[in-house]
Amino acid sequence: MGIQPKVVGLGCGTLDILIRAEQLPTWEHNTRFEAISFDGGGQAATAMAAVSRLGIPAGFIGTAGNDNAADLKLRLTERYGVDLSRIAHRNSPDDAVVIVFVDAKTGERMFFGGGRQGEVPLHTDEMDREYITAADYLHLDGLHVEAAREAAQWMHAAGKTVVLDPGTSQGKVWKDHLTLLPHVDVLIGGSGFGQALSGQKDIRQAGAKAIEMGPRIFVQTEGNKGCYTITPEDSFHTPAFPVDVVDTTGAGDVFHGAYIVGLAHGWDLRRTAQFASAVSAIKCTRIGGRAGIPTFDEALAFLHTRGIDPDNGKHAHTAER
Ligand SMILES: Nc1ncnc2c1ncn2[C@@H]1O[C@H](COP(=O)(O)OP(=O)(O)O)[C@@H](O)[C@H]1O
Ligand SMILES: [Mg+2]
Repeated sequence: MGIQPKVVGLGCGTLDILIRAEQLPTWEHNTRFEAISFDGGGQAATAMAAVSRLGIPAGFIGTAGNDNAADLKLRLTERYGVDLSRIAHRNSPDDAVVIVFVDAKTGERMFFGGGRQGEVPLHTDEMDREYITAADYLHLDGLHVEAAREAAQWMHAAGKTVVLDPGTSQGKVWKDHLTLLPHVDVLIGGSGFGQALSGQKDIRQAGAKAIEMGPRIFVQTEGNKGCYTITPEDSFHTPAFPVDVVDTTGAGDVFHGAYIVGLAHGWDLRRTAQFASAVSAIKCTRIGGRAGIPTFDEALAFLHTRGIDPDNGKHAHTAER
């Protein structure tokens, strides 16, 4: 029954319909789009697609409906080798479908979404404890919060690591997600998250507050301005890599997956942040949340040409993008 993943993601998996355009239509004026693409999305599911593409066995746990959208969303995740053997099926249409409008000028995106297939959340009884705790990392995005909290506690009882993507949603912090923090080791939020969580303007002070709530590593990503890492011992900024940006959809999700891969390789936090920044920058060069995710070799080659070698020469670089 599938592979045994080293990393398990639990949360949101969507079908994304991406439309890249200079201008959107209005009720009065029609417009044409420049490109359209179907890709899988959702924070936890896309992070697992990245983990798997980067060479580490991954599994995704969440829910799926019973219609064409559900079939396609699952197929677009399976394609990356992500194990879906523990998906819980719902006898209803899949509402986790998102229309993503991508600004052709900047590559920035906005979402036009339905639900997140969380209406009938994953129940604790639907989870396979052995399967989850056999992994080294559990990655959560706050969806199915009751099940997520239970799974995080199982992981800690097994001495394993829990990572959380708290989502940002325009600087709002979801109350539900706060209940997860005591069970989280690595907290990676998007722009404005630390400030909204802590009430502190300064990112280092915000990070220090976040760490008091449970996690031992706090990272905040800031799009093309890079990311900040804060731990009890250290704090530093990692710049983003300039690339020809086509679509930033999923940059944060892919960053999370790549970050876990860095940790799994035993790299220090500076190297891990550089690796995750490289992988997410390369992702931004193609339309779709996942289509641009590089392989491990491609990511190392990208870093290598910029004078960075996270792996200390352990892997040969065979490809360049
Ligand atoms: N325009 C960009 N150019 C280069 N790298 C980017 C760009 N946008 C995002 N990234 C990389 O992806 C990471 C996560 O992106 P971010 O935009 O903060 O997440 P989100 O997808 O939540 O908006 C950033 O820290 C950066 O390393
Ligand atoms: Mg962004």
